[in-house]
Formats: sequence, C-alpha cells, structure tokens
Amino acid sequence: MRKWIVAGNWKMNNTVAESMALARAIKEGSSGIQDGSIILAPPFTALFSVGQIIKGSNVSMAAQNMYYEDKGAYTGEVSPAMLKDLGCAYVIIGHSERRKYFRESDADVNLKVKKALDTGLTPIMCVGETDEEREKGITKDVVGRQVKNGLAGLQTIDHIVIAYEPVWAIGTGKVATSEQAQEVHAFIRGILRESYGKAADELSILYGGSVTQENIGDLIAMDDIDGALVGGASLKADGFLGIIKNIAEKK
Ligand code: PGA
Repeated sequence: MRKWIVAGNWKMNNTVAESMALARAIKEGSSGIQDGSIILAPPFTALFSVGQIIKGSNVSMAAQNMYYEDKGAYTGEVSPAMLKDLGCAYVIIGHSERRKYFRESDADVNLKVKKALDTGLTPIMCVGETDEEREKGITKDVVGRQVKNGLAGLQTIDHIVIAYEPVWAIGTGKVATSEQAQEVHAFIRGILRESYGKAADELSILYGGSVTQENIGDLIAMDDIDGALVGGASLKADGFLGIIKNIAEKK
C-alpha cells in the first residue's frame, strides 16, 4: 500500500513568529490523523523553531532546497546534515522555481537527490512541463527526461517521493484536470517500473499546482495520485487542514 502525503511548501513566506503560529495550528488541527504523512516546508530561517513545535507529533518537516556538498566554502548554501540537525526528514529538490530562477539543471537535481539519500533525508523530487512544452505536445519527453536524469545512477527508489507539478499550474489558479494529472502520474510510474520493477508501485507521486481544498477531491480519487504538494493554499491553516482531511478520507 502506498502512503498518502500532503506537503505544504511555504516558499519565501512567513517570519519565524508567523511560521510557528501556522505550524502549531496544523499540528493541533491534524492530531487525530495518523495513516499518511503531513509535511511542512518552512523557509530555512524558521526550520529550527518549527522543528521544535512538531517534535514528537504526526507532522514532519522538509527543507525547500539544499546543496550537494557536506561542508566548506560555499557561501550562502545549506548542507543536508544541517537540515537533518534541525529535524528535517524530507527535502524538496528541483522545484520549478529553482530550475527557472536559479538555473538548476537535471544534473544538479541528480547530485542533490543522491546527497540527500546519503544523508538520510527523503528527497521530494519535482518534475513538470511548461505551458509551451505542453502545447508542443512534448510533456512526456520533458517529464521522462527529468525523472530519468534526476534519478540517474540510483540502485533503489525506496526512499524517494516524486512531485508532478506542471509549471503552468503553479501559482496560477489553473489546476490540471484529474485526467491530465493521472495520465502523467501513470506515465512516471511506468518509467520507474521499467528500471525498478515493483518498487515503482510503492513510491508516492504527488500532484502540485494550484491545489485547494475545493479541487483536491477529484485529483486524489485517481489511482496514481498519492497526495499533494501545496503552495499558496498551505499558507492558511484552515485551507491546508481542509486538503489534509480530504486526502486522509479518500486514500
Ligand atoms: P501552488 O504551488 O499550490 O501555489 O500552485 C505549488 C508548488 O509550487 O509547490
């Protein structure tokens, strides 16, 4: 049985005080929900404080990025060991905003995925096509390349989560239809099955892009959609708890 996962990507939002208040509200509002994974991804500056709040609860923590070296002269970067030290169990890697604004390549993503695994963090590796790529009919070429290159050299995918986030759906209010998302999720699982066999059926694939408590029901009903990576709607406790409850009921 695959595990459902709901992750809230706060992006570059929330002060420490705001982060603590939001984390507390999510922890309290979701305390009875046990069988999936609820993950919060605060900005780096709030990881320590949020880590203290969620300790011992059913809520886990992710960082939004990391560097692929252990330590050294890399001004401004954060290592996976530092994230573990703060209580992170997960790390988001290769988000489309990182690929677009910070020019992260598939090769960077691959180095980060491998280093996260070596350090004992579970990578949430993001893939997804742009508007233009979808219109050209090359969605599967793009997503297939990102998946294969991102995981290149890995012997196992036991501790990997993948998030399919069509770039045109992120922050736009233009959510993919459940059929569009299911088609790409099944395609991703198919690619993984070719290289990793049955392990592909155990891996959770999350959908991301304008998810709300109103539209998550149709998406989560699909066979290969195992949860959600939520941006905007994860910044308010009520909306995020609504998404968590919808998923926990349906999966
Ligand atoms: P959104 O962001 O929910 O605001 O579209 C999703 C994401 O970027 O992970």
